[in-house]
Amino acid sequence: MRHFTLPSDIVDSAILEKTVSYLKAAKIRLPTFGELAEPAMNLTRNTPDDTDINAPNVENLNRIHWYNAPNEGGLVDVPDHFILTKEVTGVDAPIIVMNGGNFPMIGAHKVLPAYACLVVRLISGQFDPNYHRAIWPSTGNYCRGGVAISKILGCRGVAVLPEGMSQERFDWLEDWVGDPADIIRTPGSESNVKEIYDKCAELSAEPSNAILNQFSEFANYLVHYKVTGTAIDHVFSVVKGDSDLSLAAFVAGTGSSGTLASGDYLKKLHGTKIVAMEARECPTMLLNGYGEHNIQGIGDKHIPLIHNVMNTDFAVGIGHESCDHLSVLFNTKVGQKYLNKRWGFPKQSIKALSRLGHSGIGNLLASIKTARYLGLGKDQAVVTIATDSGALYKSERESTEIDDFPHGFDMIAAGEVYAQHLRAVSCDYIQELSHQDRCRIFNLGYFTWVEQQGVSLEDFDARRHQSFWNGLTEGIPRLDELITEFNCKTGMP
Ligand SMILES: Cc1ncc(COP(=O)(O)O)c(C=O)c1O
Repeated sequence: MRHFTLPSDIVDSAILEKTVSYLKAAKIRLPTFGELAEPAMNLTRNTPDDTDINAPNVENLNRIHWYNAPNEGGLVDVPDHFILTKEVTGVDAPIIVMNGGNFPMIGAHKVLPAYACLVVRLISGQFDPNYHRAIWPSTGNYCRGGVAISKILGCRGVAVLPEGMSQERFDWLEDWVGDPADIIRTPGSESNVKEIYDKCAELSAEPSNAILNQFSEFANYLVHYKVTGTAIDHVFSVVKGDSDLSLAAFVAGTGSSGTLASGDYLKKLHGTKIVAMEARECPTMLLNGYGEHNIQGIGDKHIPLIHNVMNTDFAVGIGHESCDHLSVLFNTKVGQKYLNKRWGFPKQSIKALSRLGHSGIGNLLASIKTARYLGLGKDQAVVTIATDSGALYKSERESTEIDDFPHGFDMIAAGEVYAQHLRAVSCDYIQELSHQDRCRIFNLGYFTWVEQQGVSLEDFDARRHQSFWNGLTEGIPRLDELITEFNCKTGMP
């Protein structure tokens, strides 16, 4: 599939026929984007409440959305979220955090783009589960999502990720892949995406390998635009109620930039400012810079093809040490006691903070910066995302405690971490993007996509204009029609 051709029709009918009979025999129905955006209206009939959300069950395809209850329970009426107020953040603007940790099988929302990237191929006859191997290039969560979807479909899924990612990611993969050879470790860590691309280029020489590159697949953009955008809008409308609250800013760290697409949706509805967060040690947007960091899942030394840069309003850099150290503060008894006794953090806020993974902590800090910079008041909300939860970083916390707190993480250390990384969040490393800044960031993508990855200049440049992105989103109903037609063929409309 070319980067720019999302299917609006069937590409290969012979492959489609095989895929239909395969999914029919396996009794697999594919949910549409619209159904995943509003599952209560569309999907609950197909979703028994007692499905094991952590197992590769077909029913879990119907749970790839924001409406799962926390703690592996059933469904909720409003997507799971929490609100942090001034006593925690120091800013007047309420910060609404969407919990991505309740997505099935991987405890992170990245299973959503994985599903989207594969489903567009399945319904258009571009992926035969009996023949193709799905290759999932990632820094960890997307490839876990891909392996989970592949397992449900009964096809081979291969994870390609840097060797330096958290042990929890590898432990999960080892349990889920059919063959250890289906975990391919590339050199480096979080910011070494070029090495992943090189491996994928090598793998693509074999025709049965289908590379599902989240950084350039527009299905990733579209599913977040529709599904995550709708979920955030729902949460916001409930939090707002009858008040004058506005949705001033949306903050998301950029890995593939898929999540940021929901900002495009919110901007259309609410005029929301879109804030892209990256690691300060790898300031690609801020400085066209590079470097190693540990905010796993984001900051990959390049500008993804699916990032709508010309619609992005702010770039914000967060230091990885802040995420490492706050993760220890939020998740240790000492840290939690300190926050409660010294600063009166409510118990439920402390519990909520422990649900943030590293990039979620980065998003929280970037939200505070944005609120400070813009001087947002209490009737101007910021919404952000916890892509995964603190549970995925236990091993990281253990090594941070050993390396950075050799005398133990005691109350003094807790006070230092709080003062340095939370209390002192300031307006440094934030850039309000002018037209010229946006062009600078956009142009940087040329070297990855046109020079290295062979995207045509015409296709690359088309993305400068909002008409391109609007055209993409207008294609969502057609994609849903194709999914529905496919389900009719398998006898599961
Ligand atoms: C933990 C974590 N945070 C943030 C992101 C970034 O999300 P996106 O790829 O949608 O930009 C990822 C992506 O893999 C992730 O795994």
